[in-house]
Amino acid sequence: MLLFLFIKGHITSLAVLRTHRRKGIATLLMERSQEEMARIFGAKFVSLHVRKSNRVAFHLYSDTLRYAIHEVEKGYYADGEDAYDMHLDLTEYMNNKKKLQQEAMDLLSSSSAAEGVNHITTSLQQLHVGMDTDPSSSSSQVIISEKSTEAS
Ligand SMILES: CC(C)(COP(=O)(O)OP(=O)(O)OC[C@H]1O[C@@H](n2cnc3c(N)ncnc32)[C@H](O)[C@@H]1OP(=O)(O)O)[C@@H](O)C(=O)NCCC(=O)NCCS
Repeated sequence: MLLFLFIKGHITSLAVLRTHRRKGIATLLMERSQEEMARIFGAKFVSLHVRKSNRVAFHLYSDTLRYAIHEVEKGYYADGEDAYDMHLDLTEYMNNKKKLQQEAMDLLSSSSAAEGVNHITTSLQQLHVGMDTDPSSSSSQVIISEKSTEAS
């Protein structure tokens, strides 16, 4: 007999201090938890419940973090409100993350990125940076001027 262990994570509660909201803290906390669930525990997906009326939390899970509605649980909360049972596929999430990281690395080492760095270097070289070192002057002055490209 084959026995498959299917490990899943579950978010039971999430809240950010009112004074610290809308700074990306919940997004960061969730992303970090998702990564650790996959990396440390080998979880394949993560689930959570959210009130149907909680538009801010629903936006966070659905649009920002890409959770999908698995089902609606009727009367899930003590006051009778329904909940969305939402799931995120962690294998897909980690694969996408790795792909994005690889794309970023490729971009950095690509010729276009190297050209971009060269362009910045050339632009900097076209600036003449000098220092007024007149000993009679009580203070030094940094002079930055554009180098003339005209032939004299
Ligand atoms: C839901 C909650 C955890 C969000 O925390 P947060 O740190 O403010 O969230 P973030 O800053 O990471 O924002 C995530 C997204 O929600 C949006 N958002 C956050 N607060 C919002 C608000 N009041 N109105 C509209 N959008 C809002 C952000 O713009 C962001 O969207 P984007 O990714 O499209 O730019 C926080 O509002 C909270 O603690 N609420 C009370 C407890 C609660 O409802 N918990 C969820 C129970 S399931």
